Amino acid sequence: MYNFNYYTPTKVVFGKDTELKVAELIKEFGGKKILIHYGGGSVIRSGLMKRVTDILDKENIEYIMLGGAVPNPHLGLVYEGIELCKKENVDFILAVGGGSAIDSAKAIGYGVTNGGDVWDFYDYKRKANACLPLGVILTIAATGSEMSDSSVITKEEGLVKRGYSSDYSRPKFAIMNPELTMTLPDYQTACGCTDIMMHTMERYFTNGGNMDLTDALAEGLLKTVKENAKILAKDPKNYDARAEVMWAGSLAHNGLTGCGNDGGDWMTHKLEHELGGLYDVAHGAGLAAIWGSWARYVYKNCLPRFKKFALNVMEVENAGTDEEIALKGIEAMEDFYREINMPTNLRELGVKATDEDLVLMAHKCAVGVGGEMGSARVLNEADMLAIFRASM
Ligand code: NZQ
Ligand code: ZN
Repeated sequence: MYNFNYYTPTKVVFGKDTELKVAELIKEFGGKKILIHYGGGSVIRSGLMKRVTDILDKENIEYIMLGGAVPNPHLGLVYEGIELCKKENVDFILAVGGGSAIDSAKAIGYGVTNGGDVWDFYDYKRKANACLPLGVILTIAATGSEMSDSSVITKEEGLVKRGYSSDYSRPKFAIMNPELTMTLPDYQTACGCTDIMMHTMERYFTNGGNMDLTDALAEGLLKTVKENAKILAKDPKNYDARAEVMWAGSLAHNGLTGCGNDGGDWMTHKLEHELGGLYDVAHGAGLAAIWGSWARYVYKNCLPRFKKFALNVMEVENAGTDEEIALKGIEAMEDFYREINMPTNLRELGVKATDEDLVLMAHKCAVGVGGEMGSARVLNEADMLAIFRASM
């Protein structure tokens, strides 16, 4: 078992009508002048934004608003938000929406509190020393950004999608009302479930360290999301299923399911970030499209974990060799993706990449990870290209 730090300072306020506590929470964490940051407008159409601003008006909390964070959020809007916050003396950011609005808010927070170009952090040139405090009202269960230390931003020039992690950006509070996710298109719900499971699977498929409790938590989380994703595919208004998935989303990426191991593999995410950057695909769908090819490429190097996953999570029959059981687990996972209408290769994802595109993505990915990366199996640029090719 490896040593670990577990730091989750976010106050979670979970359940029906919890968005009504937003003013109280902002005051608790000292916010005086707020930037409300959101995405393409779903929060306005659903009526959530009006409920939030009515409460802030009533409580005399000053705010300004900036919408427009797109899925795979852009650096350009981050720069705009930084200037706006500086001009208006904003001291607290409220992100209302999904991972894209939250990540964009985190990047704005870094930009306001650290000098220089905020992209430096995403380009691994230097580390942030601070971030504006932020709170979240979550509308999609997916990234776990509401409790995580990460944010992922796309630089329009060169379509470079990069993540940066630091504890400074962990939200002060996260309001999670599962009912708010009921307006989601089914596709986004399934993308979210895929992403949640992947955050734990990235930590689970490792060759470094072991902790039985962490594995039990991970397997329980994966089975819970798998079952509830299937329920939501048929019954999207099921509150309890929404709630199970929403809480799993936070626990899948706040560090809990990685305690005691080496931090995990993360190559499926790195490969997907290239797809998201270049083709602007939904993150969860991109993960589903690449995972099977990645798994088949690496499973022999991480056989005990793939076998355990097959038996304990996918619940395949314990018969045959370890390799056969591992492969049955991978197939069962792909069947699950099909059942919730997620793609299992790039064609199904709608990506028409030429071989040149694949070469470019593998190269950018290798540069992005500093040459090679992975724990289930360490992958270099040639391996990355082989996985992209297999996923076509
Ligand atoms: O933009 P709006 O109009 O709000 O619409 C969004 C968007 O089109 C819509 N939506 C969200 N809540 C809704 C809703 N529509 C109806 N009703 C609701 N209640 O859903 C679409 C997707 O939203 P987005 O915020 O992009 O989704 P998600 O939470 O999946 O975030 C994806 C981004 O997060 C990054 C991804 O790479 C991607 O850029 N990630 C962030 C991580 C982190 N910070 O820890 C980790 C992840 O691995 C991931 O990389
Ligand atoms: Zn993810």
